[in-house]
Amino acid sequence: MILENRVTVVTGGGSGIGAAICRAFAAERARVAVTDLRPEAAEQVAGEIRAAGGQAAAWGLDVATRATVERAAEEIASRWGPVDVWVNNAGISRVVPFLECSDALWDLTLQVNLKGTFIGCQVALRQMLPRQRGVILNMSSQSGKAGNSHYAAYCASKFGIIGLTQSLAMEFAADGIRVNALCPGVVFTALWDEQHISDYGRKRAMKPEEVRPYLESKVPLGRLCTPEDVAQTAVFLASDAASYITGQAINISGGSVMN
Ligand SMILES: NC(=O)c1ccc[n+]([C@@H]2O[C@H](COP(=O)([O-])OP(=O)(O)OC[C@H]3O[C@@H](n4cnc5c(N)ncnc54)[C@H](O)[C@@H]3O)[C@@H](O)[C@H]2O)c1
Repeated sequence: MILENRVTVVTGGGSGIGAAICRAFAAERARVAVTDLRPEAAEQVAGEIRAAGGQAAAWGLDVATRATVERAAEEIASRWGPVDVWVNNAGISRVVPFLECSDALWDLTLQVNLKGTFIGCQVALRQMLPRQRGVILNMSSQSGKAGNSHYAAYCASKFGIIGLTQSLAMEFAADGIRVNALCPGVVFTALWDEQHISDYGRKRAMKPEEVRPYLESKVPLGRLCTPEDVAQTAVFLASDAASYITGQAINISGGSVMN
């Protein structure tokens, strides 16, 4: 059990990749704070983990609203002690031609994905610094490594997360705190809802049912990424087995991205 009793906060833990990370950490006996904008979704995941014998509890928060993140972090610390691992996973994505990207969509994407990660890092670091240890994992994407048409705001946010990760890795390495980013390829979660798939199809003049086979055909390993692929990488990076790894942006993309 490589994460025994490690206090772990996962944002966006109520769905998709975040939920898989919560389950994988719980399987390694971590104490998992499942947090989400949708408290009922967080509670569902925490309840499933408890029913399976794991340690988990749910908190509602909005990663882009500092007061809600600070409140949850204080409650988590008073319940289990200071945070050992903080996973900034919550994120949103829309497929929009650049000239149709409104100020509101740009701002929302940057607020949730990038500012939410900034806030999460500050809140986590304040609990980690007194003990001179901790691990932060920030969810970037293969869209944080290479641009993609109709994803300008999303790519900007995910590139930004890698810059933030590298800067914090440098600044806090001497304090025993490691900071890394995860860069998954396409994962068919709720993020790829009907609207997202049909908007993606439109940009390549494809029918919605053609999108998944097209995406699969572009991956050298021949399949899409799964939430569990990402979760297992997160478990490794959070563990002491990764004690010499910081400031990295790890591709989990089946060979689609190699830089
Ligand atoms: N699915 C993919 O193809 C893919 C690929 C690479 C990276 N990612 C990234 O992985 C992360 C998780 O994506 P997913 O596919 O699991 O999506 P998802 O939509 O299944 O889950 C995202 C979760 O985040 C929560 N959330 C949204 N806004 C929030 C906010 N302001 N505060 C707190 N919680 C909020 C949602 O309620 C939801 O439960 C995102 O950062 C995403 O950009 C996804």
